[in-house]
Amino acid sequence: MNTVTPDTTFTTFTTFTADTTDTADTADTADTTAEHVAITPSILYFGTPVVLLSTENEDGSFNLAPMSSAWALDRTVVLGLGVDGQTAHNLRTRPELVINLPGPGQWQAVERLAPLTGRSPVPPAKQDGFRFERDKFGAAGLRPEASELVRPPRVAECPLQLEARAAAVRPDSTGEFLVVEAQVLGVHADPRIVVPGTQHVDPGVWSPLIYNFRHYHGLGPELGHSFRSRTPR
Ligand SMILES: Cc1cc2nc3c(=O)[nH]c(=O)nc-3n(C[C@H](O)[C@H](O)[C@H](O)COP(=O)(O)O)c2cc1C
Repeated sequence: MNTVTPDTTFTTFTTFTADTTDTADTADTADTTAEHVAITPSILYFGTPVVLLSTENEDGSFNLAPMSSAWALDRTVVLGLGVDGQTAHNLRTRPELVINLPGPGQWQAVERLAPLTGRSPVPPAKQDGFRFERDKFGAAGLRPEASELVRPPRVAECPLQLEARAAAVRPDSTGEFLVVEAQVLGVHADPRIVVPGTQHVDPGVWSPLIYNFRHYHGLGPELGHSFRSRTPR
């Protein structure tokens, strides 16, 4: 059996293996000194949380779309959105949105939204397999819940909901995506993921749904915490 490297900064990377028959256990003991291979993957979705964006359509109805190119800078969440989608179209002119975070148990609802667009007619880039859907909440089996600060509704089933406003919307360098800086105005959390009596989300209870090279994952057990964690334990 190969030994696990004592360098703990590297242990989380040991599940990389080209042999898909490996179990997680054997992958943990993989030879981390193996030479890398140069590859050309079709996508680089290396594992980021899924969010469901609710935005307002031109007729006052609401759209809901999954995305995963999202990350937080303090109270700003940066989003990467294809220019052809209804969500991008909406945010250019109606900047209010809700960034809803589903948990791992909601992956099938997310996947029900995956082949849908709120854009009609369906744009050429989405002709392969996408169809127009006006009622995305209904199609996903998710319940809209009125927001407090913005017009688009929250997704009731999502344990974390961030009401936000797009403060900056600009094209990326390729022209294929919009980079949106969304300022978070208010945060709603399921009380079960909040450390009682505090403002902290409990990382031991909350788990995002992770989009990992177009496969859905949850988090594994905690490995440790940052010196900056302020969560009581
Ligand atoms: C899990 C998941 C993650 C996705 N991530 C993104 C993303 O980060 N950016 C993006 O533009 N599209 C992403 N998509 C694709 C959009 O959901 C898709 O283009 C959809 O048609 C957009 O809906 P809309 O046209 O109603 O806005 C993702 C889809 C899924 C299922």
